[in-house]
Amino acid sequence: MKSSKKLILFPMPGNEIFGAKAAMNIGAEIGKCEISRFPDEESYVRILSDVKGKSAVIVCTLHKPNEHFLPLYFVCKTLRQNGVKDICLAAPYLAYMRQDRIFRPGEGVTSEFFGEIISSFVDSIITIDPHLHRHKSLGEIYGITNFVVHAADHISEWIKKNVRNPVIVGPDEESGQWVKDVAVKANAPFTVLEKTREGSRSVKVSVPHLDNYSDHTPVLVDDIISTAHTMIETVKRLKGAVMNSPVCIGVHPIFAENAYSELLDAGAKRIVTCNTIPHISNDIDVSNLFTEFLMR
Ligand code: R5P
Repeated sequence: MKSSKKLILFPMPGNEIFGAKAAMNIGAEIGKCEISRFPDEESYVRILSDVKGKSAVIVCTLHKPNEHFLPLYFVCKTLRQNGVKDICLAAPYLAYMRQDRIFRPGEGVTSEFFGEIISSFVDSIITIDPHLHRHKSLGEIYGITNFVVHAADHISEWIKKNVRNPVIVGPDEESGQWVKDVAVKANAPFTVLEKTREGSRSVKVSVPHLDNYSDHTPVLVDDIISTAHTMIETVKRLKGAVMNSPVCIGVHPIFAENAYSELLDAGAKRIVTCNTIPHISNDIDVSNLFTEFLMR
């Protein structure tokens, strides 16, 4: 890829590998900056590259958003101060999408608050499979140029190469959108279950009807794996319904606390994720998904 002198990409800490791949795909210079913490935990930011008149791409995945947000904000503001032309936030994982309505009196719709604040300091945003449920498009909450890309092609390719006789299982109604897409692309049958969430770590999943697929390998597909309780309950429900242990695939591997080992202990044969968040389970590289939008 020919290098574009006007495009400069800054990977935030932890995004270096994904950022290097994305920069190579679009022929961007990798920007140099210092980001560190003072002993009192305030953030320090210093831009070392010449950014004047350039378009900047900031690669920053937003798991643990409270920790990652302020350095991101400071980098963007400092880039502006240094004369950058415009800023695109390339966020492989976009946080705060699930609080998309008031569930209990007194709550705030934090997905909208987060959208407002991000939209106030970058010019555009691109992200992979954001959790769009009650908000039907990212544009409803991000008032800037926005672009959503999907990991379905990459996931279905992985399934075709690695799983013999798969049946795709979605744990809840919300997963239906990408489960159907993945299944069609992988030429596999699919089923979508019903989930009731009673708390962060308490979910109930309906019994799967897989009588015609008892010799298939179930492949659970969901966008986010956080506490993994959605996947764990689904794995438990599959016991007895199918002969083979399930493969679990997530787009965004958050894996809060011991979620990863708990899912393995529950009986997942293999856990595979996209590299939207760095994790030991990353086996599906989606870094080329940003290329088309960033090249525009
Ligand atoms: C919500 O409906 C999402 O699609 C996921 O199913 C959910 O975020 C998974 O969360 P957890 O791993 O905590 O059950």
